[in-house]
Amino acid sequence: MRNLIASLLLPAVALIASPAALFVSPALLFVLPAAMASEGGVRLDAAPINPADVVSLQRGARTFANYCLNCHSASLMRWNRLMELGLNESQITDNLIFDGSKVGDLMNVSMTKKDGRKWFGAAPPDLSVIARARGADWLYSYLRGFYRDPARSTGWNNTVYENVGMPNPMWQLQGERVRVEQAARGGEGKDSHGGAARAVKYEMVKPGSLTPVQYDETVADLVNFLVYMGEPAATSRKQIGIFVLLFLLALWPLAYLLKREFWKDVH
Ligand code: HEC
Repeated sequence: MRNLIASLLLPAVALIASPAALFVSPALLFVLPAAMASEGGVRLDAAPINPADVVSLQRGARTFANYCLNCHSASLMRWNRLMELGLNESQITDNLIFDGSKVGDLMNVSMTKKDGRKWFGAAPPDLSVIARARGADWLYSYLRGFYRDPARSTGWNNTVYENVGMPNPMWQLQGERVRVEQAARGGEGKDSHGGAARAVKYEMVKPGSLTPVQYDETVADLVNFLVYMGEPAATSRKQIGIFVLLFLLALWPLAYLLKREFWKDVH
């Protein structure tokens, strides 16, 4: 009990002692992601995701189970957590689980780390909290950034993550793109940026089963799900937060009246 009180009191004392910390730490929160995003100098596309869109999350979960779980695990996530997204047990077992796991099991993968390294040069990392590590925009750009590269052992390279060991898992959906480097035309007609020395383009040489727009939507749903998986309680946490604030707001006039009542004979 004493420990509990101490652990509650200490942060409060620390906060009072250093009010500056209150201002510095939120500032850091803004600086850090910006610094991480600019790493490597690639421009990231903003991920058009909506964590409150349950249907999008369901579609993302399906894509994840179909295209990612053969190599990656999500070992902090249990299958039955997907029931929060409006799926029932038999939908999860019949449509999403392919390796005979039970709905109460964690999303594990049968490939060992050693095999991963042998096959791809790097073990596929666990994806449970990847969205927190990389951010939604990075994931959205990365999963749309694959192109054919015969110099790589997997046959694939990536605009966001150069020389990545992962082959394009959704190439049948996206199609195959190649990188085309063009010397900028001298003289006649500058390009829109005023004529760069070299222009890099990505050209679709073999269309996939989805149109580029449909593929972007599929990836957006998938990233939406990856973000959800990073913190499944985020939506309800925010709702509770708003409720608590409203409750405090409603309590305030009552507290004020009570205070007046208590002090009315003192003055
Ligand atoms: C064929 C196996 C395979 C499949 C399928 C696969 N990956 Fe990967 N993935 C890898 C490997 C191997 C790496 C490690 C690459 C490296 O470090 O060079 C990786 C790396 C990643 C990374 C980068 C992690 C980091 O921060 O370093 C992300 C993100 C990722 N995968 C997401 C996905 C998603 C989402 C899917 C499903 C659409 C998927 N992967 C499907 C093999 C796979």
